[in-house]
Amino acid sequence: MQQSRKNELIQHAEEQFRRIEKLQALGLICSDGDFVPSVHYPPITEYPDCDVEEYLAGYEYPADGFMDLYVHVPFCIRHCLYCHYPGMVGECKEEKEKYIGYLFREIDMYLRRFGIERIKPRSILLGGGTPSYLPPALFERFLDGLDQRLDYSGCKQYNIDLDPNSLLGEDGARRLESMKNHGLTRLTIGLQSLDDQVLRIMNRPHNAAMAVESVYRALEYGFDVNIEFIYGHPGETIDNWIEVIEKAVELPMAEIQIYRLKVQAYGDYQGAINRYARGTGAKDIPDFRTTMMMKQIAIDILNEHGFNESLRRVYTKNKKVFSHYAYNQCCSLYDQVGFGMTGFSSYHDRFDINSMYFDEYYRMIDEGHLPITRGYVRPLEEQIRQAIVLPLKNRSVIKADFFKRTGVQFDSILQKKTQMLKDYGLIEDNGRVVRLTELGGFVADEVCEEYNSNAFKPFPRERYADGPLHPYLDNEMNV
Ligand SMILES: C[S@@+](CC[C@H](N)C(=O)[O-])C[C@H]1O[C@@H](n2cnc3c(N)ncnc32)[C@H](O)[C@@H]1O
Ligand code: SF4
Repeated sequence: MQQSRKNELIQHAEEQFRRIEKLQALGLICSDGDFVPSVHYPPITEYPDCDVEEYLAGYEYPADGFMDLYVHVPFCIRHCLYCHYPGMVGECKEEKEKYIGYLFREIDMYLRRFGIERIKPRSILLGGGTPSYLPPALFERFLDGLDQRLDYSGCKQYNIDLDPNSLLGEDGARRLESMKNHGLTRLTIGLQSLDDQVLRIMNRPHNAAMAVESVYRALEYGFDVNIEFIYGHPGETIDNWIEVIEKAVELPMAEIQIYRLKVQAYGDYQGAINRYARGTGAKDIPDFRTTMMMKQIAIDILNEHGFNESLRRVYTKNKKVFSHYAYNQCCSLYDQVGFGMTGFSSYHDRFDINSMYFDEYYRMIDEGHLPITRGYVRPLEEQIRQAIVLPLKNRSVIKADFFKRTGVQFDSILQKKTQMLKDYGLIEDNGRVVRLTELGGFVADEVCEEYNSNAFKPFPRERYADGPLHPYLDNEMNV
């Protein structure tokens, strides 16, 4: 990139950071710049332990029989520095065989519990971990086993999360073949960076050339491909991040996701990055200002190359290509069921999560229980808040849909808060739809978390400046 263009990008990013600092002083953003991504509501760590049967009592399976489906496979080649997902690393062939056996027992138990023959997925996501890190023959049996338990007639998209390695070599070819034969449609490949030095710091099991090769291989098989990157990671600088994004936009797939590094886990399991950040690594983590500038620079380069934000932090060339699984869960708020260790289910009025320990997961299934260890039935107020937080973050709140879902008019609740967010240019309302502005979208988590109840704010009161956008203000809802 020419130096003059680089200077322009940096200048624009600095201007954006000055806006962010103002919002921080107004109380919107945590004083040290930390954040918690709003991916579920209430946040995942807030769910209490539960008795499975008590928790499930009163749950009504959707009348049309449709579900979005998540299946979790917690195995990886090795642990990446930044990752907070619990799992087992290394070959561990026997454990993988055992786990897949229990996974099918769990699904069978669920089918019996709800008296259905097969699950009818609207969309599917196989996630992890790295589901494709199963040996090719077991991977094939895994997909076969799912085929026997699912009715695909209404399934619009079949997704999987992968690391680049699992698509390479002979084993990679066998897995790609299996995925094609079983009707998978969209592959999310975690590239994370395209800088070899950064990839080494991340402890990724691949280099940049292997990452690029995996994208081409997936495209050769005709899959929709989505690639993921992390910004704000140790080893990243504004200069090498610009190079990474410039290389990314030259790749021929339609979708790019960018994640801000989360140092402190927002689930239960703390990854190695947390200890690293508290020790010698602290100085290597880009500061808040640099991280925000990286984000703005990425957005500018992506936009310049025709990638526009479709769902939050997902940039696509073609508006029609996006994760149906994410859209259904976060915008339509459809019921979604999850299987496997740490698998979560998000239903219209409740949310639960499976055990995160192999032993406990196996034991509960052996004892004849679904392996749910925590669950929460959302009272009406929390259902209302969820119906704002997730759709607003990811796309928009459509007022008519909101009323249909909650029985409450959007304009009748939290008016003062909404007005304040409008006054500061963070949300806009055309009478029919409420959505984030460009500035609001940049700080989407913080704006949407304004609507979390005070019991479920990401940080305690004292970690925000005392201003008109302090998230604990004007937050009473009388319903
Ligand atoms: C559960 S990971 C699965 C990815 C896949 N196993 C891989 O190796 O690429 C899903 C995505 O979450 C993002 N992610 C994981 N840990 C993160 C963290 N601490 N901060 C930000 N993003 C993270 C990464 O971009 C990752 O690709
Ligand atoms: S990023 Fe992927 S490969 Fe790395 S530890 Fe996490 S789940 Fe495993």
